[in-house]
Amino acid sequence: MKLEIFDNYEELSLHAAKEIISIVHQKPNAVFCLATGDSPKLTYTLLANEARESGVDFSKAYFIGLDEWVGVPPTNPGSCHYYLTRNVFQPLGIDVTHIHLFNALSENLQNECQSMDKTIRNLGGIDLMLVGIGMNGHVGFNEPGISPDLYSHVINLDEVTQTVGQKYFNETMVLKQGITLGLKHFLESKVALLVANGEKKAGIIKRALEETISETLPAIFIRKHANGKVFVDSAALGQKQPEATL
Ligand code: PGA
Repeated sequence: MKLEIFDNYEELSLHAAKEIISIVHQKPNAVFCLATGDSPKLTYTLLANEARESGVDFSKAYFIGLDEWVGVPPTNPGSCHYYLTRNVFQPLGIDVTHIHLFNALSENLQNECQSMDKTIRNLGGIDLMLVGIGMNGHVGFNEPGISPDLYSHVINLDEVTQTVGQKYFNETMVLKQGITLGLKHFLESKVALLVANGEKKAGIIKRALEETISETLPAIFIRKHANGKVFVDSAALGQKQPEATL
């Protein structure tokens, strides 16, 4: 695993966007799994700007959804579906036939998991998985205690996730379950990139970088990834920004 430290969130996001672009340059039909959340938001804005200005072509690339809140419709602005459509698919002009997201309203969520696993296999695996890290160390909805041997699954959400997740919604939501790719997908992705910014992530990043690897902290498995990259800004590493000189 490689750790890269950036002075600020803008630098971090720019490098994450360049990482995505370098992959689509090498492999136009690359398969991406891009997380939702606040951490990668600027990455997607910069990615869309760069794609527009430099004519980067994503038309052959594929996109896999990382996770979704069970029972939340794609029309809800707090859903992962809505977020990805707004921040990634629309700005990059991705055709719906190249997008595979969980249907979290399905009556048969097990089938959803199996069909997602099959889609990923048929596409030849994920080339780049870009994730954030939850305040409890989760990746997607792989919550503390989850086995790293699982592919897609439905999970009862940790209390931290249920509480923190409210920030994505305009109204108070009951967020009991999630459907998610597994840590096995994360570990099998050709490149795994974890981004974290801001002081509030300093505690969990320190644990992810220093603790003994175990299931209590799902994101820690990035240290087992042969091509794992962690991009943090100095605040997420617990470093204060130097005082501006007058
Ligand atoms: P955040 O979420 O990027 O909004 O902090 C990260 C996560 O929960 O995985």
